[in-house]
Amino acid sequence: QCGIAVESRINCGCDRSLSRADCEARGCCYVPLPQSGLGGPPWCFYPVRYPGYKMGPLLPTEKGQRATLARSAPSYLPRDIPTLQLDLMPETLGRLHLTLKDPASPRYEVPFVTSQSRGHKDIQNPLYDVDFQPDPFGFIVRRKSNGRVLLNTTIGPLLFADQYVQLSTSMASSVISGLGEHYTPITLDLNWTSVSLWNRDMAPHRSANLYGSHPFFLVQEGDGQAHGVFLLNSNAMEVFLQPAPALTWVTVGGILDFYIFLGPSPQSVVQQYHEVIGYPMMPPYWSLGFHLCRWGYTSTNITRTVVQLMRQAKIPLDVQWNDLDYADQRRVFTFDLQRFGDLPRMVEEFHQLGMKYVLILDPGISSASPPGSYKPFDDGLKRGVFIKNSTGQILIGKVWPGPTAFPDFTNPTTQDWWTDCIRVFHSKVPVDGLWIDMNEPSNFVQGSVDGCPDSDLEKPPYTPGVIGGQLNAGTLCVSAQQYLSNHYNLHNLYGLTEAIATHRALLKVKSTRPFVLSRSSFPGLGRFSAHWTGDVRSDWEQLRFSIPGVLLFGLYGVPLVGADVCGFGGDTTEELCVRWTQLGAFYPFMRNHNDKPNAPQEPFVFSQQAQDAMRTAITLRYSLLPFLYTLFHHTHSSGSTVARPLFLEFPTDPDCQTIDRQFLWGSSLLISPVLEEGALEVTAYLPPGTWYSLHNVIPPLILSYYSKGQYILFPAPLDTINVHVREGSIIPQQVPALTTTASRRNPFTLIVALSVGNWAKGELFWDDGESLDTFEHGNYSYVLFFAEEPVKLNGSLDGLVLGEVRVFGVRAPPTSVWANGQKVHDFSYSQDTKVCNKRFILIFKMC
Ligand code: NOJ
Repeated sequence: QCGIAVESRINCGCDRSLSRADCEARGCCYVPLPQSGLGGPPWCFYPVRYPGYKMGPLLPTEKGQRATLARSAPSYLPRDIPTLQLDLMPETLGRLHLTLKDPASPRYEVPFVTSQSRGHKDIQNPLYDVDFQPDPFGFIVRRKSNGRVLLNTTIGPLLFADQYVQLSTSMASSVISGLGEHYTPITLDLNWTSVSLWNRDMAPHRSANLYGSHPFFLVQEGDGQAHGVFLLNSNAMEVFLQPAPALTWVTVGGILDFYIFLGPSPQSVVQQYHEVIGYPMMPPYWSLGFHLCRWGYTSTNITRTVVQLMRQAKIPLDVQWNDLDYADQRRVFTFDLQRFGDLPRMVEEFHQLGMKYVLILDPGISSASPPGSYKPFDDGLKRGVFIKNSTGQILIGKVWPGPTAFPDFTNPTTQDWWTDCIRVFHSKVPVDGLWIDMNEPSNFVQGSVDGCPDSDLEKPPYTPGVIGGQLNAGTLCVSAQQYLSNHYNLHNLYGLTEAIATHRALLKVKSTRPFVLSRSSFPGLGRFSAHWTGDVRSDWEQLRFSIPGVLLFGLYGVPLVGADVCGFGGDTTEELCVRWTQLGAFYPFMRNHNDKPNAPQEPFVFSQQAQDAMRTAITLRYSLLPFLYTLFHHTHSSGSTVARPLFLEFPTDPDCQTIDRQFLWGSSLLISPVLEEGALEVTAYLPPGTWYSLHNVIPPLILSYYSKGQYILFPAPLDTINVHVREGSIIPQQVPALTTTASRRNPFTLIVALSVGNWAKGELFWDDGESLDTFEHGNYSYVLFFAEEPVKLNGSLDGLVLGEVRVFGVRAPPTSVWANGQKVHDFSYSQDTKVCNKRFILIFKMC
């Protein structure tokens, strides 16, 4: 019974450290090892077939099958749920839905996250098979095509008590990505680690639960196939990972609500997941431009100067931001009349320049202003929008303005009040978007200014390993009352619910595509908001970790994501800031943001050489925005990724499984940034095929590389970020300008990267960039480009001007070039003699 391989032992003491007596009292095996201890294999583990629930017969239901599970003896946990209801719902060919709940009394279930798609009932020949072990209960999910076991929960017991729910499963491989938000590489470490999901205001560092919770992971099975698992549960959760490979979920409430996605490709796993949580919003075009912010622009004049200096430096800038500096005594929905008295005028001026303006909006509403002097609070009080403590008074915490109350965004009345606050403010300060910060929610006192009651909610029988050791650390008392449930259940949804309310308010007030940037997140956030990775430090390690951070949010359905360019905490250096700007030019969301005490880090404060390098990077981004926008269209319309880990695109290439120092935009641009101080070269992996360097597209510097799937050393002087175009792709570009308002009027260009077989294809999604639901209403142009031998391009750009076409990889000098049925003479071509083996570049203009 206890003869279990060390790496497969499932800890019998996930909840606490057990002595021999405690361990044996639980009926577990006590076998200490020399390496047992914190962070190693457990010394107290479940024996084979540890008693659990016994499963009754499976009966058909409208949606699938149902069985009742019953415990014959109580577990070691307080308040066991003795009977459970299992529902098995095959929803699509690749998606299986399985729930375990208490049939006797309804428990909290996550509201509204999976509203979109439900699937069908009679699925013929799905990709999965499910088997059960009736006693003790466990289920096994197999990939039907090859019999591979994807999940096997018979390796440990199912425990289901009121405040402790635990389930273990084996895993099909050790290559697993997800379970954010944490400071990790793209794949997780399974060497007896754990990750806790509990939204927390915490500067990113190892082993900490950060701002968001995403109980989803994707497993690469090793042969190019992949599957994903989503546990829809918003309670505090810890997931234990071990080398078997196996994992154990422990959550302190709710139900077990699993979605299993069979792929079979990693891309299709992501799509299947996004079908459940909802496809991301279509961002306004301007939000893909460069954003500039800092805490410490202490007046409108200083903010204006920043914009002026950016324009003087001829560096593109679409969106100027203000942090809390603008607010009167840091109270949201006000502005300081001394320093920001002409804020409305400043915003108008920015609009005149074709720019946009965004400011910060914290959820904490100051509760200490004299009655009658601060309408958002007075009005909120009247309308009953604030979260209450367990005895029914408004819970008061402390955030930037001092004592604050916290709106309960699960209450429909709060939505109306929030919309009113935003409408009134917007009528004075016509902001273009809102930055919702501190929405974990963050609280500078533990729980509330009056502390928290001594209760099972505040001190559950088991607390996942969270920073601060208690669920109410850095946030509200979890016994606080919200409209839909208590904060214990709803905490991880606070940011999401605020994002929904803010998105809806902007929609009502502006009737254009809302732009919201949220720090806290939960599955579904991407339908309403962008995200940034919080208070990253200005150092090289954080620069590196920003790549997996951004890529993982793509998997989580929040594609509009970036880290603070040049870092938020601490002083940056010129070199770091240049490299960060180059990488940031390829974050889907690009904003330079800085903390108050730090040295300035706007591009114009650096040397001419650094400014030139930054301008080059940002300008390159601007030239690629039509391509980026088209990628966003795809995520919005069919759930995919914009910034993409290599394994998604090259799933059968084992070298790509864990790469997170490089990434792709879509399927055709490979970005290989410098991530080390002092480096002037970068070693980058090129998946098999021909790749064309985008760096400096002026002949004769276009280089092409044929890779067998190998690492290549590329020069990367300070002014260069290596970007490679994949053979077979056509990239739509536009002549850049200082704003997207201006660049959108410029001619388009095409980069045609011919494959070895002399073909290439690409596409462009184009609309006005800000109207609502253009795709849904058919109010857009969609152009497909094809090139073949002889190079021929189709496509009408619907009134748009195609300025130039560049074809990479033309092997022999062209004898003639035709455009729109006419022979053209103003084309050029050049030979790259160095690397690309007598390939030629053809450039012709079609103005
Ligand atoms: C914390 C945010 O993460 C940071 O970006 C912001 O500057 C400060 N709050 C001040 O508002």
